[in-house]
Amino acid sequence: MTRGAFCFLALSLTLLQACNPDSTSTIPELVLDEQILLEAVLNLPDQHYAYSDIELPNFLAIPPVNNADNTPNNNPITDAGATLGRVLFYDKKLSANNTIACASCHLQENSFTDPVALSTGFEGELTGRHSMSLANARYYQNGHFFWDERASSLEEQTLLPIQDHIEMGMFLETLETKLAQEYYYRILFRQAFGDIEITSDRISLALSQFIRSMLSYNSKYDKGLAQLSNPGQGLPGFTAQENLGRAVFFSPTLGNCAGCHRTNLFIGDRAQNNGLDLSSTDNGLGDVTGFPTDNGKFKVPSLRNIALTAPYMHDGRFNTLHQVVDHYNNGVQPHPNLDIMLRGANNQPRRLNLSVEEREALVAFLETLTDEEFINDVRFSDPFK
Ligand code: HEC
Ligand code: HEC
Repeated sequence: MTRGAFCFLALSLTLLQACNPDSTSTIPELVLDEQILLEAVLNLPDQHYAYSDIELPNFLAIPPVNNADNTPNNNPITDAGATLGRVLFYDKKLSANNTIACASCHLQENSFTDPVALSTGFEGELTGRHSMSLANARYYQNGHFFWDERASSLEEQTLLPIQDHIEMGMFLETLETKLAQEYYYRILFRQAFGDIEITSDRISLALSQFIRSMLSYNSKYDKGLAQLSNPGQGLPGFTAQENLGRAVFFSPTLGNCAGCHRTNLFIGDRAQNNGLDLSSTDNGLGDVTGFPTDNGKFKVPSLRNIALTAPYMHDGRFNTLHQVVDHYNNGVQPHPNLDIMLRGANNQPRRLNLSVEEREALVAFLETLTDEEFINDVRFSDPFK
């Protein structure tokens, strides 16, 4: 929209308010004009998309998964709040030189991670670790974020990349002033929070709502689960190979993957060491707590959409799921903090000794966790024109 057209609209907005003393009758017209103003820049529906009150599949709505929901009481998802979060997430104005948005390193087609090992920040420098998928982050029970769990809530986390000197390089006060200059933010903040005041607090709340609304539960695995009548049997719709992979994943004597990647979200509940190295170059949780016994421990992320989120691990060291499976099969290193789940006889790293067939099957099973609906869901897509 041209500046002139915008001024005209802004003027008519003010006139509407001024001419009609009966405020309630002005509301529909104001809403209409706000929509026109928003549409100049953003692809947003007349009515907000639904982010709250979503009908969830059974397994998400009952224990143990629903107990792991890290939504705080003061920040429930609202449709207007998540809509604002979506716009912020895709807005390059959040970086100091308007080049990088959250979405630059968290791509929807990759389940909101970055397909390169290290991401490029606003001045071309690389991040210290691999980006993380954001799908189902809402169900990480201890509510800590980042590979090393240094953010103790999502609300705390969402302001950190903005201020990070490699990622976005912004001061929060500067950001507040910068966003207040955009009429679409004045509208979106009012819709989400009741008035046009733009604070970093509200930015963090809205971004967190948007991220918590990123739930993935429409994979082939889910479709099989929904049709399963006898839990002892293979999943309906699965090939024999995928069902073998599922058995390997869950079986304590074969893969035992479910020992750490738990529930139907295949997510952990605390940082652990999975034996990537004999001694850690990146101490992970250990550098946050200061305890040597935490060295080399990292968050256990959800394996949902794992086929889309390569490369793998906190440093993106593995390019394929085959390499990941080979690591667990015979590559686990005797790090002093190696988790008990990955130790066998004499406390030595466990060797799974899976056959080629079982390893292939495990990869085939992990590929059933891909959710095409999620990565094509318009509610999570770039709203900018
Ligand atoms: C330059 C790339 C980059 C940008 C920009 C970026 N991120 Fe990230 N993000 C990362 C990396 C890398 C990590 C992992 C860092 C670590 O653990 O030390 C990460 C981790 C996260 C996590 C933790 C997920 C989990 O499960 O613990 C969240 C949430 C997140 N980012 C949200 C955001 C939001 C919101 C924005 C925008 C305000 C953003 N990111 C901007 C690269 C980026
Ligand atoms: C002791 C707990 C534990 C067990 C058992 C375990 N994992 Fe993991 N897994 C982790 C941890 C911790 C990470 C993250 C490590 C890191 O990045 O440093 C991880 C990461 C992964 C990743 C990469 C995730 C990403 O987003 O990059 C995949 C894939 C994976 N595991 C698959 C498996 C499979 C398959 C098995 C069974 C053969 C398995 N895991 C068994 C703890 C475990």
